Amino acid sequence: MDLSNKTILITGASSGIGEQAAIQLAQAGAKVCLIARRAEELQRIQKAIKEQAGQAFIYPADITDPGQLKACVTLILAEHKKIDVLVNNAARSIRRPIVESLDRLHDYERTMQINYFAAVNMTLHVLPHFLENGAGHVVNISTMSTQVPIPLFSAYLASKSALESFSRSLSMELKDQGIDVSIVYFPMVRTPMSSKTAIYKHMKMLDTPTAAGWIVKAIEEKSYRVSSKAGLVANALLNTAPTWVMNLSRPLFQFMDKRLKNKLEADL
Ligand SMILES: NC(=O)c1ccc[n+]([C@@H]2O[C@H](COP(=O)([O-])OP(=O)(O)OC[C@H]3O[C@@H](n4cnc5c(N)ncnc54)[C@H](OP(=O)(O)O)[C@@H]3O)[C@@H](O)[C@H]2O)c1
Repeated sequence: MDLSNKTILITGASSGIGEQAAIQLAQAGAKVCLIARRAEELQRIQKAIKEQAGQAFIYPADITDPGQLKACVTLILAEHKKIDVLVNNAARSIRRPIVESLDRLHDYERTMQINYFAAVNMTLHVLPHFLENGAGHVVNISTMSTQVPIPLFSAYLASKSALESFSRSLSMELKDQGIDVSIVYFPMVRTPMSSKTAIYKHMKMLDTPTAAGWIVKAIEEKSYRVSSKAGLVANALLNTAPTWVMNLSRPLFQFMDKRLKNKLEADL
């Protein structure tokens, strides 16, 4: 897809991967509509894009609030003749063992609110416009951690798996009517989200410009899946021999966590 003058909505555009994706898509000639709660951060990114002669429009909103989400999409549709792509990137992550979550159902609820329901609600609001045009592309951001067995992120990973299932149904039902769907499975990326976990300081991660390139690739190539090779192999193994892979993964992750903790302690 040639991105010049395509209108692309990006949620979670005020930091991390979303910020970089907005910058790269604007550099490629797209009109980017940036959505997140922090207006001042969106203004900063809009200014940076405009300084490079790009086109950026900002729509501060808490998209877990259905009223704010509806008002935001209504305003975007009023201000732009056509929306070509929706990138559901906004998310939150929680790292907590299940045994420490016994009285914390709200962890599961709040990850679902932003990572799943907000993404679905954005899609439901943009879909009538896409269907009217006979074309549209929904890019849903997921994680490599749904391709492999990972402990400690049950709330986060369940919400991302739900989004993947929704994406499959969306593609199965509407591809014939011009609706493209992509899922991007990021490995770890150095962002404010991943930096909240101290022991990840020494983990090898993608930088945000590289990660943002994966979103650009998903949009340009309209590929259903953008993934690391490691994610593809691990997922194939998990589906083929789940008991074996689960049994192997447990000690592997315990070892990895211990190594990262030791490295962090050595810093102190
Ligand atoms: N970083 C990683 O290692 C990694 C790995 C795999 C997948 N991912 C995925 O990549 C995507 C981007 O993550 P990131 O690491 O770049 O995270 P980040 O820097 O923390 O950015 C998260 C974005 O979501 C927005 N957001 C959160 N709650 C919102 C709400 N209620 N309404 C509107 N916007 C909201 C935040 O903006 P405001 O606070 O301004 O609202 C922010 O712009 C996410 O889908 C994440 O799950 C990340």
